[in-house]
Amino acid sequence: MSGTEATESLVGRTVELEIGPIAHGGHCVARWDGRAVFVRHALPGERVVARITEGVEPARYLRADAVSVVRPAPQRVPAPCQYAHPGGCGGCDFQHVAPQAQRELLAAVVREQLSRLAGVDYDVVVEPVDDGDGLGWRTRVSYAVDAEGRPGLRRHRSHEVVPIERCLIAHPDLPAVHGRALAAVSSVQAVCSGVGDTAVIADGRVVAGRTRLRERVHGREFRSSSGGFWQVHPRAAEVLVDTVLRYAEVCPGDTVCDLYAGSGLFSAFLGAAVGRQGHVIAVESDSRAVKDARRNLHDLPQVQIRHAPVAAVLGERTLSEAPDVVVLDPPRTGARARVVRGVAALRPSRVVYVACDPAALARDVAIFAELGYGLSQLRAFALFPMTHHVECVALLEPMS
Ligand SMILES: C[S@@+](CC[C@H](N)C(=O)[O-])C[C@H]1O[C@@H](n2cnc3c(N)ncnc32)[C@H](O)[C@@H]1O
Repeated sequence: MSGTEATESLVGRTVELEIGPIAHGGHCVARWDGRAVFVRHALPGERVVARITEGVEPARYLRADAVSVVRPAPQRVPAPCQYAHPGGCGGCDFQHVAPQAQRELLAAVVREQLSRLAGVDYDVVVEPVDDGDGLGWRTRVSYAVDAEGRPGLRRHRSHEVVPIERCLIAHPDLPAVHGRALAAVSSVQAVCSGVGDTAVIADGRVVAGRTRLRERVHGREFRSSSGGFWQVHPRAAEVLVDTVLRYAEVCPGDTVCDLYAGSGLFSAFLGAAVGRQGHVIAVESDSRAVKDARRNLHDLPQVQIRHAPVAAVLGERTLSEAPDVVVLDPPRTGARARVVRGVAALRPSRVVYVACDPAALARDVAIFAELGYGLSQLRAFALFPMTHHVECVALLEPMS
């Protein structure tokens, strides 16, 4: 910006807005004074008074919080959590929305991302994974610790810690972090597993409970390091395994790649499906997860675990024997062009893509399309109730 342009802050100003559609990120879009305003704590179709939280003249985009509702939407409910309000905890986005309506908002987001970023029209439905009220599901909660040693969660788009006595989406089995000596600590994580194991981790170090938690998925036991990756919703592992297996249609003797394999969740079931005559190549870059995977998969010699970045393994000639199926479950940033090109170059008959960010998925779907793979099926699951996060599993197949 040149030094002569006005830079008046609009923060704190209140404006009355007609709220438009939901957008990715937990906010709705409104228009004001020729600009787009991303409004939290609102719902499409509402009229609200909003306080601007970010924006400096002459910005074309502003952020705002709905501070009072002039005309509420029928899907609005009182937030069950006392910390979920403008200026409060930034952990949840949809405490003010009925659970079924939350899923409809998320479906609209996935549809919009696929349409805008990949040019794909897909009638997305976000499926519930339980009949709960969206509370008490989170088996891993990372608290920031404020200057007085109190655990809390951060305000939206801020480093400021909101001290929290009780997080309502936290699983009831999580160990207490309150009352611990946290004066010299900047973060504390509480973790619990499906079989009742727990741990407390302060600044990356396990200070109570187990260093590795046991999990049980379809009767099979897994162990994963307390501070490492494991699916967060108690229903997630089984729901995702079932969907991956259904889309992968693996036969005995097949070769399958499980990219971003973590501690071996999908590889265990893919390994059982291909049998001793088949092969699973599990690729994972995190040393702790690889160690867990080696232990979790020790009874499945058909699974080969590769401790390396996915892009490096895809670049090797040894993989040119073409897997029948590629499963990939990348982190939030998605697989990106280099990995997508590497997967497509193997010419698998099926690609099963597990995605925790619909924008990253849609960008990668667009790249797959350029390489001859089309989206043929997609399921989306409400694995993060009250938040704007949603898990998708997509099946991509060669376009004829
Ligand atoms: C979303 S988790 C999926 C784990 C596993 N599929 C599961 O459901 O438990 C993503 C995994 O990818 C790993 N990862 C991230 N970047 C990677 C890369 N470039 N190459 C290999 N693994 C990577 C992370 O360590 C993490 O274990």
